[in-house]
Amino acid sequence: MKVCTTKVETRSVLSSFRKAGQTIGLVPTMGYLHEGHMALVRAATAECDRVVVSIFVNPTQFGPKEDLASYPRDTDRDLELLHAAGVDAVFMPSPEEMYHVDNQTIVDTVGLSKVLIGKLRPGHFRGVATVVCKLLNITQPDRAFFGKKDYQQLRVIKTMVRDLDIPVRIIGVSTIREADGLAMSSRNVRLTPADRKAAAVLSKSLNFADQIAGSGITSRQLEREVRDMIDAEPRANVQSVDVRDAESLGPVRGRITTPVVVLLAVRFGDVLLIDQRVISPEKGQR
Ligand code: PAJ
Repeated sequence: MKVCTTKVETRSVLSSFRKAGQTIGLVPTMGYLHEGHMALVRAATAECDRVVVSIFVNPTQFGPKEDLASYPRDTDRDLELLHAAGVDAVFMPSPEEMYHVDNQTIVDTVGLSKVLIGKLRPGHFRGVATVVCKLLNITQPDRAFFGKKDYQQLRVIKTMVRDLDIPVRIIGVSTIREADGLAMSSRNVRLTPADRKAAAVLSKSLNFADQIAGSGITSRQLEREVRDMIDAEPRANVQSVDVRDAESLGPVRGRITTPVVVLLAVRFGDVLLIDQRVISPEKGQR
């Protein structure tokens, strides 16, 4: 496994693969890897000849009051896991390597970046779109793999790739969960034991949403039912519960007849957790 800290080195390793006619899969991460990340790595390994993983805690996607400094890091462990998984190359640049001192260019999906999580975290998706655009340019993969857990992020990236004609296929991978249903996240380690236990309410409320969506209720009613269920957990501080069109993330009015996504953002202490569930129209009409 080649571990590269510069763009030049990364490009040279990957160009040798490309010259040999091999397909390349990219898995962008911020490190502190868990089974969710490894599911993306496995999907990439299954679909591509060569796999490159990036580890970069991207400062431009964190707000001034967010957890950039306390974001968990363990590079040695990450490299061991990636090596064991048969990854071919790792790109782990410093912020100075990644961003030119006179960096002036940003990528912004102007509508999508400002709604939902974009409202809670102004500037976040601009930082994500910009760094992912750069990673795609540096590695030029055939496919790039992202988790469906970060549903809005996946929509932002697919939209950016469409709008900027970036020649890559974006693949969404299903959410990997803990035994009690909590979606795996690098941030889960920051939860207190009591909050960690209480956080299972997110996936429970999504299961509940799935069950009741078939009863002919409206998107508004569904939002209210899910919010009430999470509010019943005293440790949970609900930031947003939204039922949106699964493709455009636009508002859905009336009864649910097209695929919708239920999007949750809930704080436990100062840790913001997100989760989502897509509910298909067949199910919604049942
Ligand atoms: P990070 O939070 O490290 O996540 C890296 C990738 O792993 C993302 O595509 C995310 O959706 C996916 N992922 C996280 N938890 C998952 C889970 N439980 N199941 C399946 N996939 C999961 O998301 C980022 O980093 C950054 O914003 C990044 C895209 C790297 C840009 O900086």
